[in-house]
Amino acid sequence: MAVQVLSGEERWKLDRSDDAQFYAEPRFVQHLDGAFRARLRALYAERIPPGAVVLDLMSSWVSHLPDTVAYAAVIGHGLNARELEANPRLTRHWRQNLNRDQRLPLESASIDAALIVAGWQYLEYPEAVAAELLRVVHPGGQLIVAFSNRMFAQKAPRIWTEASDQGRLALVARVLVAQGWPPPLRIAEPTRAEGPLGWLGGQGDPFFAVVAQSSR
Ligand SMILES: C[S@@+](CC[C@H](N)C(=O)[O-])C[C@H]1O[C@@H](n2cnc3c(N)ncnc32)[C@H](O)[C@@H]1O
Repeated sequence: MAVQVLSGEERWKLDRSDDAQFYAEPRFVQHLDGAFRARLRALYAERIPPGAVVLDLMSSWVSHLPDTVAYAAVIGHGLNARELEANPRLTRHWRQNLNRDQRLPLESASIDAALIVAGWQYLEYPEAVAAELLRVVHPGGQLIVAFSNRMFAQKAPRIWTEASDQGRLALVARVLVAQGWPPPLRIAEPTRAEGPLGWLGGQGDPFFAVVAQSSR
């Protein structure tokens, strides 16, 4: 049983319709700009060893893992079958609405690195998902939750839409620690836009990540 952190009111979101409907049509777009994605790839290269078993939870047609690193498996999860089938990094995948059912169909301690990119903000029950991730990530394994400041606001619970960037980092950390994850590392960095805009000092999507290492 997960330890509750959010109140019922904090889970409220504008669009209460089935999330599977919202994601029924594939979106072959990048949800984050090139600067953000480059920073994320660098973090993955630094943190996830070659040969790891990776879980890309709330994935799409892209996983942002460095092309040059080989992993034992990259297990994908999401809501749109066509996006997941098009993702070249995934070894296998499954579909599941995490706002309906948070139990992950994975063996305990079977994952080395679990990733969520631009997805946590849509979780109505992040506590139960965090507890499940603690179960499936093996001792010494990691969870990396990355996000920027954009979202489908109608699909994000109020606690996320109304929080500051720092508040969101603190929220993810609080939910994880409540389930038994050790206090995670929090990263908050500006990025520089790619190309001529960046040369002129233009900024890219801001980069935020929470990195937790299981000690169980
Ligand atoms: C903005 S996209 C990000 C996709 C991908 N991680 C990326 O970096 O491009 C949000 C993703 O969250 C997932 N998602 C949203 N609501 C969900 C839900 N209720 N249950 C499961 N997955 C959900 C979908 O797979 C969707 O593709």
